[in-house]
Amino acid sequence: MSTLALLLVLVLTCSASSAQRVQSKFHTDSATVSVTVIVDWFGSGNFTTVQQAIDWAPTNNNQWIRIHVKAGTYTEQVSIPQNKPYILLEGEGRKTIIQSGGHGSVRGTSTFTVNADNFVASRITFKVEQSSH
Ligand SMILES: *[C@@H]1O[C@H](CO)[C@@H](O)[C@H](O)[C@H]1NC(C)=O
Repeated sequence: MSTLALLLVLVLTCSASSAQRVQSKFHTDSATVSVTVIVDWFGSGNFTTVQQAIDWAPTNNNQWIRIHVKAGTYTEQVSIPQNKPYILLEGEGRKTIIQSGGHGSVRGTSTFTVNADNFVASRITFKVEQSSH
């Protein structure tokens, strides 16, 4: 039991520090953002779902793509494949919420899956559905 807890702390520490590195790299290097697209559920952006923007992103790109997600609740499962690095997902704080689907969602499926390197998310709230059974 205590070993498990320790492992968990280690994993959390590791992921926090790697996120920090990516973040600072992004800030010192912000001129390399090549393009910004807007996700807006209301329809006034380039895409209405986050996944559409991810799908649009070119594979194996080497410049930051900023995906700005307008305030709103996005009920979808987002998956970023390994061949799509350098994605900066930027929301509008607590008003930008990404949550997993309702009734049809598969138990154990996460709202958000990132397999790519150099991913940064900022000012986005992720809601993980609690399983009721
Ligand atoms: C996103 O929408 C803006 C405004 O309509 C447009 O100028 C821009 O070219 C679009 N970008 C992409 C990648 O479709």
